[in-house]
Amino acid sequence: MPENPFMDKQKSLLASEENRGAEGKKKKTKKHKDQTWAKEGPQDPFEMLDSLPEEKQQEIQKAMHLFSFGQGPPKSLLEAYKHTYRFWDTQPVPKIDEEVTSYGPIKLEMPSVREESYSLPQEFIWDTLDLDNQEQLRELCDLLNENYTEEDDNTLRLHYSSQFLLWALCPPGGQSQWHCGVRVNSSQKLVGFINAIPATMKVFDTELKMVEVNFLCVHKKLRSKRVAPVLIKEITRRVHRQGIFQAVYSTSAVLPKPIATCRYWHRSLNPRKLIDLNFFSLTRNMTLQRALKLNRLPETTKTTSLRPMTVQDVLVVQALLREHLKAFHLSPVLTLEDVEHWLLPQDGVIDTYVVESMTGTVTDMVSFYTLPSTALNHPVHKGLKAACVLYCISKATPLLQLMEDTLIICKARGFDVFSAMDVMDNKAFLEPLKFRMGEVHKQYYLYNWRCPEISSDKVGVVLK
Ligand SMILES: CC(C)(COP(=O)(O)OP(=O)(O)OC[C@H]1O[C@@H](n2cnc3c(N)ncnc32)[C@H](O)[C@@H]1OP(=O)(O)O)[C@@H](O)C(=O)NCCC(=O)NCCS
Repeated sequence: MPENPFMDKQKSLLASEENRGAEGKKKKTKKHKDQTWAKEGPQDPFEMLDSLPEEKQQEIQKAMHLFSFGQGPPKSLLEAYKHTYRFWDTQPVPKIDEEVTSYGPIKLEMPSVREESYSLPQEFIWDTLDLDNQEQLRELCDLLNENYTEEDDNTLRLHYSSQFLLWALCPPGGQSQWHCGVRVNSSQKLVGFINAIPATMKVFDTELKMVEVNFLCVHKKLRSKRVAPVLIKEITRRVHRQGIFQAVYSTSAVLPKPIATCRYWHRSLNPRKLIDLNFFSLTRNMTLQRALKLNRLPETTKTTSLRPMTVQDVLVVQALLREHLKAFHLSPVLTLEDVEHWLLPQDGVIDTYVVESMTGTVTDMVSFYTLPSTALNHPVHKGLKAACVLYCISKATPLLQLMEDTLIICKARGFDVFSAMDVMDNKAFLEPLKFRMGEVHKQYYLYNWRCPEISSDKVGVVLK
């Protein structure tokens, strides 16, 4: 497709990745002058693509997908060994085949951190999003909901609400310049985003002030054009400017080099709907009737005094968490403000239940966040409501009972599925409570910190 404007944009974005100093800027301007398509066509390539009939747009997208097929990041270690990491091999992370046995920073001395943002091709601009601004928050919801993750078979798409994003992106100590967006200059359309939030993490025996980087997203029409490395470098620069040189992040892609590999498990609460939506499929031995029977839960909970957490519980929940998290090699160090922010119930976002003993002491807790998805083009179902467990701590109540009660509560509250990763002590309840192993792995990474690999049951944090 020599006429396709995106092919030309691909070149210009590639140029920007290599383009660092003033010299680079000059070269880039020259390249743009040479781009004949840009002179004649509309300035905004999105406008150009959007002006085509829907059918044509779909054809172009299919062709782009075909051409980029196999170029995405590796999804397994086997693929990773064969992949050339043009970007990640330049970063302070261990090499994919490196056996790490030591602990500590990879780059001790950070060169002076550049003041100015990395250059973008002239049709794009950086924009720090103001998430107190309803319009900008809505734009971010739209970008993520349309472009973040989608089931491979195009049936379900995650649906982030604005309340969820405020919870996930604006914790205590958060910095507004870490809501880093890219817009098309002419139309101001938001087409890229990356975010960092502050986090103090314990990695083995070391407490480190770092950031958690998440919500990296590039508009589908701009994929495979090396925009992601520019976003990653820019957020790194902004974080370095604040004197922070480590980060934690996770993705299903295999990059150099995972410190832990975790797996999602799912407990069906509404089997009929999950089968309708292709979330689970029936096998020869598993009829719908059998699936309904297998996943049936008791009508009522067993644990007396299991109740939603309130602001009065913050102190004791913090103490419970601090004690519990000591056992893991990667875990957050949570302040009172963090506990308040991350765990106090917010409708449709986060729930925490605690168990209060006869003497009024909080002995156990479980927390989960809500992640709804939109069902794409389904004749009956509009969406799917999932709960994802964050922490469960059982001291006085048996773990299986606490988690079964949580499933009962979630079912009564209209959740369709309850998901958990095989982190912390979760393995102890997954199979007994009839969770099914999912296909998605989540790889955990540290930026600029070396440590030996951690087994999933020694991971003490769920990255959203
Ligand atoms: C993730 C995403 C931004 C990557 O963009 P892209 O257009 O596919 O990739 P680009 O051409 O811009 O960049 C490719 C480089 O980014 C790396 N990369 C791809 N996905 C990545 C990720 N999730 N995290 C970090 N690096 C990633 C690739 O490995 C490659 O670097 P390499 O040459 O060292 O291998 C894009 O696919 C997207 O928005 N996906 C949906 C949202 C999502 O899955 N986000 C990540 C969840 S945390």
